[in-house]
Amino acid sequence: MSDTKKFLLDGKPVVFQDGQTILEAARQAGHYIPHLCWHPDFPAHGSCKLCIVKVGGRHVSSCAMPAKEGMEVESNTPEMNGERRALLQMLFVEGNHFCPSCEKSGNCQLQALAYDLEMLSAHFNHFYPNRPVDASHPDVLLDFNRCIFCELCVRASRDIDGKNIFALTDRGIHKHLVVNAESGRLADTDFAASDRAANICPVGVILHKRQGFARPIGERDYDAKPISVVAMEEVEK
Ligand code: FES
Repeated sequence: MSDTKKFLLDGKPVVFQDGQTILEAARQAGHYIPHLCWHPDFPAHGSCKLCIVKVGGRHVSSCAMPAKEGMEVESNTPEMNGERRALLQMLFVEGNHFCPSCEKSGNCQLQALAYDLEMLSAHFNHFYPNRPVDASHPDVLLDFNRCIFCELCVRASRDIDGKNIFALTDRGIHKHLVVNAESGRLADTDFAASDRAANICPVGVILHKRQGFARPIGERDYDAKPISVVAMEEVEK
């Protein structure tokens, strides 16, 4: 008797190993589930909820939910994609995302997901928070207006670079990313452009100076293919 374990994802069987989450097993089997705060090099964070799926009538974060034998998972359905669109709309209005003038345009996961999930408007009222940029560092600009609180820079700086440069502070609508320095300025830390944390932001908060718009339209990450295709090509590499 085979001891291969499987669950159903949108009616298709997905083989998994013990300890894998729904998202990990789905990716390994070639099925894309949208995500923003999840990254293969880090434990699940569970904050963005873009990876939401329906299991047994409940909405769960597939990046954090362990796969179980025989479970029936709904992901690429009008209901789940509608939930994801609403979450994206909330992310867009709680920050200041001006895609046409953003250096990360075309390479931004938030923008790419909005295109892929056919988000046509922000729907909700914009908060227009006041978040000054930090241009103090010689090589890196911080534009906090685009932060989606995925904490990938926080985690990378703490767990990989061993520097603990970033943190989230405050709660609810006042939550924001800060630099761990008495002055609050990036220039007053030992942050380097080669740090993992400097190269992990899925949106346009951490930008390398003198490299803006270096890749022309047509050659950017998501110009030719949607994020749902690009993300799965990365799995195959
Ligand atoms: Fe699962 Fe963000 S990817 S909560």
